[in-house]
Amino acid sequence: MEKEFNPFLVTHYKDAFHFCDRENETVQLKKNIQNNINTTLFAIRRVGKTGLIHHVFNSFSKNSKVVCIYVDILSSKNLKEFTNLLATVIYNRFPENKNLGKKVIETIKLLRPLISFDELSGSPEITFDLTETKRYEKTIQQLFTFLDQQNIKIVFAIDEFQQILEYPEKNVEALLRTHIQTLKNTNFIFCGSNQKMMNEIFNSAKRPFFASCSNLHLDFITEDKYAAFIEKIFTNFKRKITKESIQYILNFTCCHTFYTQFFCNYLYSNNKKSIHLTDVKQAAIEILKLNENTFFQYRNLLTTSQWQLLSAISKEEKLFKAHSKNFIQKYNLGTSSMVTRGIEALLEKEMIFYNSTIEAPYYQTYDKFLMRWMQNKQ
Ligand SMILES: Nc1ncnc2c1ncn2[C@@H]1O[C@H](COP(=O)(O)OP(=O)(O)OP(=O)(O)O)[C@@H](O)[C@H]1O
Ligand SMILES: [Mg+2]
Repeated sequence: MEKEFNPFLVTHYKDAFHFCDRENETVQLKKNIQNNINTTLFAIRRVGKTGLIHHVFNSFSKNSKVVCIYVDILSSKNLKEFTNLLATVIYNRFPENKNLGKKVIETIKLLRPLISFDELSGSPEITFDLTETKRYEKTIQQLFTFLDQQNIKIVFAIDEFQQILEYPEKNVEALLRTHIQTLKNTNFIFCGSNQKMMNEIFNSAKRPFFASCSNLHLDFITEDKYAAFIEKIFTNFKRKITKESIQYILNFTCCHTFYTQFFCNYLYSNNKKSIHLTDVKQAAIEILKLNENTFFQYRNLLTTSQWQLLSAISKEEKLFKAHSKNFIQKYNLGTSSMVTRGIEALLEKEMIFYNSTIEAPYYQTYDKFLMRWMQNKQ
């Protein structure tokens, strides 16, 4: 089984061996946990936020004094669904045969949930059927407080946290902040893929979470670290890959984690023992072809002028001056205000991102394969 497993992961975290770098961020996150500081993990999409959380959690896996709980709340639409997800991950996290596990299960059962089983995974799912929102608020508090009193360290990672802004209940931020403040043994990692919304929650002076967490920014993995990792993995599985091939991949994907993993995964799956630049170039062509349907779907989601602007940004690769005459004229984009509106729409639809954490900020197309595909078009 292990032999057939592709070591370049594109869907989940496995272990430290299959994980590239993030050494400083791991140290920082662990330090925050050890010093009872809550963390907000900021980064653009598909750069490895969720992977980093699992990597840090994995490093605590042998420590019986620390219990790490991960919950992704992207699918939740309101406070009720949030509470159900929270109770479900807690219920599933503690082994029933251990004392604490028994206590957790008893406590949750006291809250009178419906327990069903997920059709695919077969794991239990908790649903509360309460009539009032207030009862859900109370349930969340009871769950947090109960865990906090168990004399162990609890680390809660709430992924896609910006989703709480979509709930019809408008006080969720204040409610969570209030409960969280009272906990002594519990730490939180708040993570989200929508930067604008995450900024709104954590960096707006008027909001409950303002300045309550330590911000950790996740950047692209550096080229030298990623190159060493790619070489290590191929070599470990008895494949040879030339340095120029690795460089081509990292240039093609701009070191954006998901796209780099995907490229290497594809290349690995070709089963060649010795990989040269021609193989890598051929793989790049095939990957773009493979993704063409998705690109056409993107096009249907955009207006003609948004598509044209996206193509212009892709061709620039890094767009430093969105309103320069040169850029607007070169791609025939109309007026400066049309570009402003277009950029807003593309940011909103997460087709592009704004890298503002460096000295010279720029706009870039999110999907690196789409970017390369557009560069090859007229
Ligand atoms: N440091 C790493 N080394 C190797 N693979 C990684 C690393 N970080 C993430 N990955 C892989 O890259 C892919 C994307 O990472 P991940 O899902 O963690 O990104 P994300 O920032 O959480 O994305 P999103 O914004 O969509 O939630 C995953 O398949 C993961 O396995
Ligand atoms: Mg994620």
